[in-house]
Amino acid sequence: MTTVTASEAAYVVAALLFILSLAGLSQHRTSRSGVVWGIAGMVVALAATVGLASKDITATGLVLIALATAIGAGIGLWRARVVEMTGMPELIAIMHSLVGLAAAFVGWNGYLDVDAELSGSLLGIHHAEVFIGVFIGAVTFTGSVVAYLKLSARIDSRPLTLPGKHVLNIGALVAFVGLTVAFVARPNLGLLIAVTVIALALGAHLVASIGGGDMPVVVSMLNSYSGWAAAASGFLLANNLLIVTGALVGSSGAYLSYIMCKAMNRSFISVIAGGFGTPAAAADDGEQGEHREISAEETAELLRDASSVIITPGYGMAVAQAQYPVAELARKLRERGVEVRFGIHPVAGRLPGHMNVLLAEANVPYDIVLEMDEINDDFAATSVVLVIGANDTVNPAATDNPASPIAGMPVLHVWEAANVVVFKRSMAAGYAGVQNPLFFRENSQMLFGDAKQRVEDILRSLDALDTPVKEMAGTTR
Ligand code: TAP
Repeated sequence: MTTVTASEAAYVVAALLFILSLAGLSQHRTSRSGVVWGIAGMVVALAATVGLASKDITATGLVLIALATAIGAGIGLWRARVVEMTGMPELIAIMHSLVGLAAAFVGWNGYLDVDAELSGSLLGIHHAEVFIGVFIGAVTFTGSVVAYLKLSARIDSRPLTLPGKHVLNIGALVAFVGLTVAFVARPNLGLLIAVTVIALALGAHLVASIGGGDMPVVVSMLNSYSGWAAAASGFLLANNLLIVTGALVGSSGAYLSYIMCKAMNRSFISVIAGGFGTPAAAADDGEQGEHREISAEETAELLRDASSVIITPGYGMAVAQAQYPVAELARKLRERGVEVRFGIHPVAGRLPGHMNVLLAEANVPYDIVLEMDEINDDFAATSVVLVIGANDTVNPAATDNPASPIAGMPVLHVWEAANVVVFKRSMAAGYAGVQNPLFFRENSQMLFGDAKQRVEDILRSLDALDTPVKEMAGTTR
């Protein structure tokens, strides 16, 4: 078997491993094995690629490849070790930006280093591939950088609303089509620079135009774009594995975006087109009225007298790492005969399944952790809801205020319960930058402070409330 045939065979193995990886990642239970399949696939793919190219690579070239691989792997390992769970989306976004940048570079290289054997229509196809690769790569690059900046709160997460923003987006697409035709007919550096600049601006503008609440869809959409960018590079480099892998990532990312859009009641086209058709979002920060505060001791009393409790966790629970005391609180209340359940919003936190992972980590039984659709009708018959570090996902403006930037997004109907206690540190808005009228409702009370500390305070207060009862029981015996 020649090196080329062996490498091509290894590509098929790597592609199968990637498919197994995606299948594994689709469920919590199998996700660890999914990661292992993915790592194995990548090792096989890298080895096969070097094997395939080895006949054209000098010894110095091989050393450089080994060095680049070691540096890349080192940075990857370091980042993966230090990243907080809450920082995952921005890490993913910055990774996507690198895929986009690589695709744009591959495109530029395809222009600067044309295979001398190409002629006629094959040369035309090559130049179209160059242009499309640079375009998708550059859009993905700046789109992902802006997503990174928004997700890491380095820039405001509110949507940018330039006058005529949709005309700008459509104009950029029309210019891309026109420039592609011109480039295929007469390739030149000026056109390549023009399409690169347009694509860089379009990527930044598309993502900047999308509001914070819709960022989950944007992250999965950029995931999809990065796949198509890799596939475009695969065509240019005549690398079958890159084409297959890019198509796998592109289509799975597109499907994930579709699922996210359905969960958030958003139009897929609207999000792809940079928030087309969504309300021109000014955050509703107007006068909301007075809020009431409650102490940890009073919350403990409320819980002691409750017959049913629903806990709705959000990003703040992840920040505070409050899942362990929260699990302990749920256990204690259940021991007292209180019905305790968790209501999980599909985009609570910063990752799909973020809350489920945290609660599983703290050994909360699966059967009391319910999805939004399973629990939303039960709030009206609930004594106390504990909103632990959630904000946008429990905002009634999404259902009551058609002008709100998050209008139409399904939310947990916590306000229908008899009592709502909101755990947060201040009156600040949530990720979407929208004020929450829940905080000012008559049945809502704010428990300010770090969620972990406040839940621990409640646990102590519950114990203190129990003590006299136990002592009295002891004296009467
Ligand atoms: P958010 O709307 O982000 O609100 C979290 C709240 O937690 C904040 O209001 C904050 O208020 C509070 N908080 C932060 N640290 C805290 C701490 N140590 N102790 C107590 N409270 C703390 O949360 P959510 O309801 O989970 O909504 C998620 C948002 O993120 C949605 O807009 C969603 O679209 C977006 N998003 C989600 C994803 C995915 S896939 N899940 C990805 C990207 C974006 P204070 O600062 O006043 O404490």
